[in-house]
Amino acid sequence: MNIENLVRKNILSLNPYVAARHSHLSGTLMDANENPYGSVIENDSFELNRYPDPNQVSLRKAVSELISIPVENICFGVGSDELIDLFIKIFCDPRKDAVIICEPTYGMYRVCCNINDVNVKNIPLNSNYDIDYDALSNAIDYNTKLIFLCSPNNPSANLLNSDFIINLANRKNVMIVVDEAYIDFAQQSGLVNEAIKIPNLAVIRTFSKAWGMAGVRCGYSVASQFVTELLLKVKAPYNINKLTSDFVIRAISNKERYENFVDIIIKERKRIIDKLSKMKKVRKVLPSDANFISFFVDEPQKVFKVLEENGIVIRDRSNQFNFSGGLRVSVGTEEENNRFLKELEKALI
Ligand SMILES: Cc1ncc(COP(=O)(O)O)c(C=O)c1O
Repeated sequence: MNIENLVRKNILSLNPYVAARHSHLSGTLMDANENPYGSVIENDSFELNRYPDPNQVSLRKAVSELISIPVENICFGVGSDELIDLFIKIFCDPRKDAVIICEPTYGMYRVCCNINDVNVKNIPLNSNYDIDYDALSNAIDYNTKLIFLCSPNNPSANLLNSDFIINLANRKNVMIVVDEAYIDFAQQSGLVNEAIKIPNLAVIRTFSKAWGMAGVRCGYSVASQFVTELLLKVKAPYNINKLTSDFVIRAISNKERYENFVDIIIKERKRIIDKLSKMKKVRKVLPSDANFISFFVDEPQKVFKVLEENGIVIRDRSNQFNFSGGLRVSVGTEEENNRFLKELEKALI
């Protein structure tokens, strides 16, 4: 594997910006043109007048302990969405290189490529919403630098074949990023241990789902040290603010609450799937390894609208590639799920 060949030349040779807080977080700080008197927030215990740590040391240490992966292999982004963008920036020359995505999948991969003016090749998932290994393998050419795979996949909610992913990474010189936003709800532990051994395999994860922290905007990558250093070099120096960092560290110290959330969401997921499966006008319900369920109806737009009029907001995914008739509902609280099921039954009459 020659990972260096995959990286854009301007990124390989980039001299990164060295932020003031890179080497000094304490002392008589007169280097960053901050306000020395404090912030305008009263009783501010965060010292918000000072820039945050660009090296994300405490956060990286906390997640390193949480997932038993060395600090050197972890980088944080403003949600995993920022990391998606960073991978494209690092590996793809605009108007020249291509990214492969396997639709139906998370829409941001395509949008981020479009923003970066990078070509997108769609190699659709097969009829089981799994990787079409031969098609994917054959589609990789010299300009294919990056593949985004989503496991469990949004919106089909299934895990992808991890042997396929590992084989592909071992056989092809292309960077593979596996988005594990929903891995906490699955029976498998994901690919972080492989990502630190296989140079062209990376995983991205988020605190937005199982941890219940979507509002703080925090995601992270697990990748080789080489790729992690590139991510750290290309990200905005102060991308993770002090409040985000503090809240995520506090969340990690409350793992029991996270585990309870996962348990109850998995229980409710099963209950919703059972109920949906019994509704005659629901054509099909997909099994789920995530915190949402996708199901298919004859008139998705109409059903979506009737639910919306009754205050239930779900996601119409029927316009997505190979997902005709598909609606997606996030697992809510027990009471929300009951309300959704009741209104859906009425909408389907
Ligand atoms: C597959 C997938 N990846 C990433 C994200 C975004 O995560 P974050 O909130 O960490 O940016 C989402 C959000 O819905 C998602 O479905």
